[in-house]
Amino acid sequence: MCGIVGYVGPRDSEGILIAGLARLEYRGYDSAGIAVIDGAGSVAMRKRAGKLSVLRDDLAAHALPGGTTGIGHTRWATHGGPTDANAHPHLADDDRLAVIHNGIIENFAELKVELVSEGYDFLSETDTEVAAVLLGREYRANGGDLVEAFRSTASRLDGAFTLLAMHEEHPGLVVGARRNSPLVIGLGEGENFLGSDVAAFVEHTRKALAIGQDEIVAITPAGVEVTDFDGAAVDVEPFEVLWDAAAADKGGWSSFMAKEVSEEPEAVANTIRGRVRDGQVVVPELDGMDALFADISRIIVIACGTAAYAGAVGKYALEQWTRIPVDVELAHEFRYRDPVIGPDTLVVSISQSGETMDTLMAVKYARERGARTLSICNTQGATIPRESDAIVYTHAGPEVAVASTKAFVAQITALYLLALHVARVRGTVSSAEGEQHVRELEAVPEKISQILDREQARIEEFAGWMADTRSVLFLGRHVGYPIALEGALKLKEISYIHAEGFAAGELKHGPIALIEPGQPVFVIVPSPRESALIHSKVVSNIQEIRARGARVIAIAEEGDAAVLPFADEVLRIPLAGPLMEPLLAVVPLHIFAMGLATAKGLDVDQPRNLAKSVTVE
Ligand code: F6R
Repeated sequence: MCGIVGYVGPRDSEGILIAGLARLEYRGYDSAGIAVIDGAGSVAMRKRAGKLSVLRDDLAAHALPGGTTGIGHTRWATHGGPTDANAHPHLADDDRLAVIHNGIIENFAELKVELVSEGYDFLSETDTEVAAVLLGREYRANGGDLVEAFRSTASRLDGAFTLLAMHEEHPGLVVGARRNSPLVIGLGEGENFLGSDVAAFVEHTRKALAIGQDEIVAITPAGVEVTDFDGAAVDVEPFEVLWDAAAADKGGWSSFMAKEVSEEPEAVANTIRGRVRDGQVVVPELDGMDALFADISRIIVIACGTAAYAGAVGKYALEQWTRIPVDVELAHEFRYRDPVIGPDTLVVSISQSGETMDTLMAVKYARERGARTLSICNTQGATIPRESDAIVYTHAGPEVAVASTKAFVAQITALYLLALHVARVRGTVSSAEGEQHVRELEAVPEKISQILDREQARIEEFAGWMADTRSVLFLGRHVGYPIALEGALKLKEISYIHAEGFAAGELKHGPIALIEPGQPVFVIVPSPRESALIHSKVVSNIQEIRARGARVIAIAEEGDAAVLPFADEVLRIPLAGPLMEPLLAVVPLHIFAMGLATAKGLDVDQPRNLAKSVTVE
């Protein structure tokens, strides 16, 4: 939430800042702004409510003076509405200091009272301006040392923040600080960058450093200095960014979401790559960590939204293959209920961004309670993996559209790899079974490609006919249940249509009352070959809703004729084992949500009120 970018170097910063913001816009699009130190040594600033394009148009119409030191921000509003005044940067110290912020400063109201009583004026309703004014006051009080001013300011702030600032008295210097909110450094040749994540600067450099908790960084064209809040120097290990800039570009696609759905086969294949040895799953990152899994008696998966649904799918494989009981919990509920956890609990967090505050806080809580922690994450250098004992990266590549698609299939894949790795270590799956599961998993990318090739155009056309639909229901059993939830979430998130997912067996306990003539219901139908019993139950559920007038859209295996008499539409998926089916059945649902939102003329990449990477609780 909120994208941050900073630049120091020989080049004019405006283009670099705007390009960085374009890559970070998925983090928030309520307003955007930049500030530079211009050739005359003054701070020049422009900020506008609305998407980045509004700021771009404004800059094109009224150019900002050039400057080689700059900061930029794209906002997801928390304190104060999405107005020009509340947009960042905020200026202080008589407009000589510019500040941007991501996070929430919880004690901003009391700090504001203190500053107002000292005679300071405020132009916005934001918590950020309070931090800016405080920073300006501390800067003046210490005689003009910006890093020192950050240190004293940080000690007064409660909550989560990444703050970036520059002062006209120090051209060529950008200072940043972070607590519970992300900040990454990009190391260039004679230039350096700061960003909320590596996407901000990946087109300029792939050498990066992740800033730790409660640390301050000062970048100049010549170098980077990292210290902790007490002033002690901190050694930071550089890492190589694996994403390339092109991967975060839309290419010729109509939207990032369309591109990312098309990348679902690769997301699965790349997540498997390098993790199979002699037909068995061996996750190299977990090599030497057998002790982590040897004596655990319980696994708790924590995540939010789509990632939590991936966790719910993973539960079936983890339990079946490792025979360890698994609970799946929404991260924001987990730590408020005094969960029973300890050294025999493995807490597996799942997060595409690696920055979701609810998940981060739950991971920290689990660690404090002595649990072992493992993070499944898609973003290098992110905070959640850094806070965990072990990491399994998903290799889905940058996901830019707010609605998660390719990361979802990569997360399920990573959970399956984890399950097979743990099962091998604990001896709960024979090597022949292990090999069989690996073969099935390795066949998934090609099967997803077949769905995209054969069904995408038809699903999009069909979604177009449903553009006026007001409500859609989704039903599934077993692994189909979390897929029903994911189908409903995706639809409501990007098409603003009421959608609900249910366990098919739960229907007659209440939700069937919603069925009236014409009500569209998607039903995820399990394989009749692999899961005959569940298949017959789901077909009965279809008959029950058909009898009440529902319009049934079945997602069914090729060749399943049993659904034909009861379904208005059948979307076909290739044959697969029961645990592989969710990786296939979700694809038509992603295409459908995207097709319907597109038919309604909505922006599928940037749905209203949302942002990717939810860094506030
Ligand atoms: C829905 C969606 C969200 C995220 C959730 C967790 O399409 O994208 O529900 O899955 O906000 O985000 P991460 O995975 O970054 O922790």
